[in-house]
Amino acid sequence: MLQRVRDGKTKTILVAGGAGFVGSHLCDSLLLRGNRVICVDSFLTGSKANVRPLENHPNFRLIEKDICGLFDIDEPVDQVYNLACAASPPQYQADPMHTMMTCVTGTANLLSIAERHGASFLQASTSEVYGDPEEHPQREDYRGNVSCTGPRACYDEGKRAAEALCFDMLRAGRTDARVVRIFNTYGPRMQPNDGRIVSNLLVQAISGSPLTIYGSGEQTRSFCFVTDLVAGLMALMDVDPNPGVPVNIGNPGEFTINELAEMVVAMVPTASEIVYRPLPMDDPQRRRPDISRAQQLLGWEPKIALAEGLQQTADWFISALAERGSRPKTVRAQQRPDLTKELSIGA
Ligand SMILES: NC(=O)c1ccc[n+]([C@@H]2O[C@H](COP(=O)([O-])OP(=O)(O)OC[C@H]3O[C@@H](n4cnc5c(N)ncnc54)[C@H](O)[C@@H]3O)[C@@H](O)[C@H]2O)c1
Repeated sequence: MLQRVRDGKTKTILVAGGAGFVGSHLCDSLLLRGNRVICVDSFLTGSKANVRPLENHPNFRLIEKDICGLFDIDEPVDQVYNLACAASPPQYQADPMHTMMTCVTGTANLLSIAERHGASFLQASTSEVYGDPEEHPQREDYRGNVSCTGPRACYDEGKRAAEALCFDMLRAGRTDARVVRIFNTYGPRMQPNDGRIVSNLLVQAISGSPLTIYGSGEQTRSFCFVTDLVAGLMALMDVDPNPGVPVNIGNPGEFTINELAEMVVAMVPTASEIVYRPLPMDDPQRRRPDISRAQQLLGWEPKIALAEGLQQTADWFISALAERGSRPKTVRAQQRPDLTKELSIGA
């Protein structure tokens, strides 16, 4: 088994998907710790704006590349984080075969890079590997209830295959691979039009449009603030020895979508009504991580409560939308332009 030298020296860290929502926060934190960061991203769903503040940082390098193609890095690499994959259902379903290839071929390519460089590897897997779960909350040893033929399969099954690749490489002693199962995460830099529930509701509320809820709204989700997630990712990458098992990272607080919408309405002054639409196929009814493994192995648990994180996210969206649409930074219910047309909120 490959042993990493963890001597506290500056590390060179490849972050695939580093221009995305989570990846850009990870790049920030790794640079703050004095590391060199190489961000590899195709900008499929990420944005140059997310990494623009890092462009002139002496320890930051940006490579525009699709991880489905073979490539290598022309300098030594100590760690590889694989976050590259469209994460919201409308985005990963837009080109399902590319999503599957990103999960399988892309992950295999990055594992090969990690193997060649003797680097540790962390795979961003997902709570979607549990599908529509029959066990609640979800522990890592639950094997899931996933459809391999439905519209979410490109992502759910792709991520399951990526996990299998990681554990095969680990068992073979070829790569120090680690797997994190990320539960619903939110925060500043989410894309306003990515179709995820937190961004959908906030953007709709800020722009005074009806808040869309799919299904009865009684389905539950757990929401983890992005800085808590990033702390968990780094803790799992750095823990020694490699636990050799997947680790859930998420916030175990469980809220119905109706409760989330009520919090958004209370936070963002809005006259918006709530409208209900049919639930998409294979949408899970309940989601809550059991995080006892992360607590025991990493000493990790989330610190940011939903109300606090949601407020930070709302403030960020208000500024970001004001910049795009020349809107006043203070949003008042009676004077909101309809930003939903320009942002094409969907799904
Ligand atoms: N945010 C969440 O709630 C959540 C939950 C579970 C899992 N995850 C996982 O965490 C990772 C990051 O998610 P996110 O929310 O930041 O999504 P995101 O879409 O903002 O970021 C993904 C990044 O990967 C890039 N990318 C996609 N396909 C690529 C390819 N083939 N080659 C190179 N770059 C590519 C995108 O351009 C983007 O910058 C994803 O792997 C996702 O599956 C996220």
